[in-house]
Amino acid sequence: MTTRKWDTLIVNANLATMTENGCAYGEIRQAAIAIDSASIAWVGPMSELPDTPAECARTLFNANGMWITPGLIDCHTHLLFAGSRAWEFEFRLNGKSYQEIAEDGGGILSTVRATREATDSRLLSDSANRLQHMLAEGVTSVEIKSGYGLSLEQELRLLSACKRLQDRHPIDIYPTLLAAHAVPEEYTGRPDEYVDLICESIIPQVAEQQLADSVDAYCETLAFNPAQVRRVFDAAKAHKLDVRLHADQFSDSGGAALAAEYKALSADHLEYASEDGIRAMAASGTTAVLLPGAFYMLGETRLPPIDRMREHGVRLAVATDCNPGSSPLSSILTALNLSCICFRLTPEEALQGVTINAAHALGIAHRAGSLEVGKIADLALWHIDEPAELTYWIGGRKCRHLYKNGECLF
Ligand code: NIG
Ligand code: FE
Repeated sequence: MTTRKWDTLIVNANLATMTENGCAYGEIRQAAIAIDSASIAWVGPMSELPDTPAECARTLFNANGMWITPGLIDCHTHLLFAGSRAWEFEFRLNGKSYQEIAEDGGGILSTVRATREATDSRLLSDSANRLQHMLAEGVTSVEIKSGYGLSLEQELRLLSACKRLQDRHPIDIYPTLLAAHAVPEEYTGRPDEYVDLICESIIPQVAEQQLADSVDAYCETLAFNPAQVRRVFDAAKAHKLDVRLHADQFSDSGGAALAAEYKALSADHLEYASEDGIRAMAASGTTAVLLPGAFYMLGETRLPPIDRMREHGVRLAVATDCNPGSSPLSSILTALNLSCICFRLTPEEALQGVTINAAHALGIAHRAGSLEVGKIADLALWHIDEPAELTYWIGGRKCRHLYKNGECLF
């Protein structure tokens, strides 16, 4: 019998496949995984390999007992920004709230000023550094939102910058238009006119130039109300773009149900989401993206209704929310630890949250997020004894090896 030779075979590994194979983490011990043409070609126990390892593949890699997970997916970031808001952090610790700072023209708008003023090269190099940090922690896919431009020209500039980052960085970037992040200074007191601009100019141009996969909005008293979000979502849908929503972070504005009504890929934050909203998300298949970095950083005490989410069968994802205001965090492994400690996710739920469920939040679960034949060969190899170590160490253990599209990056 002649066996087809795969490009690469990794042997003596323990796999956290993150599939539902009846074992926690979808684990397979003493396993092998084969890569061919950038995809996963075979997964299983070594004892079931069709031939001797050497006969199976052109390149053999001995994992020596390391654990392999799917490349991690950070499904909610605002990592394209300039400057820092350490001064705002200091203000908060001197007693001002995030909302008060935003109302005084600080908050998101101060990062808008810094981002508009930054040169392209500075913006790209700062963002590439954050991506590099993520890559070192085993991240192979990242969602990046615009939202610090807030004009037609500047939002297009940020989304084009995502394309340029993609050209120079191995991580897969999924750009999201978040023009409805805040009302820009030029439109103070005229939020509906800014929503007109989003719906009539920004979304059509972004769609035409194929600069984003989805459209997000910030539904909150200090940002956009549900009626304004509906207009943004209607325009997005008219241009065949997926939607997602920053929902119910500081108050229950019915964001979870609104996201569900539009069959949003995800609704994110959700600390104040109602049970009806959660039920609606379950029915629409909308993934809940939990953002423990913002919860921790803002000293929030209200927990997202995670038991209700479990009860109704809503998928839970976890992300960094990397941004200079509410979550200056680019470490997905720290987000994992925070999700267990702050939100009481189990280590397995947390890991699902940055693999298969994050893939659902991005609409890419058919090709990423688990170790299954046919999916892209994005593999992270970890020097750990058990998967719970990924959530247990604070600050994380660095990933030892990373395969992106079947290629070993380090
Ligand atoms: O997800 N909530 C809105 N957006 C960000 C905060 C952005 C900022 O403060 O600059 C978030 O927490
Ligand atoms: Fe966010």
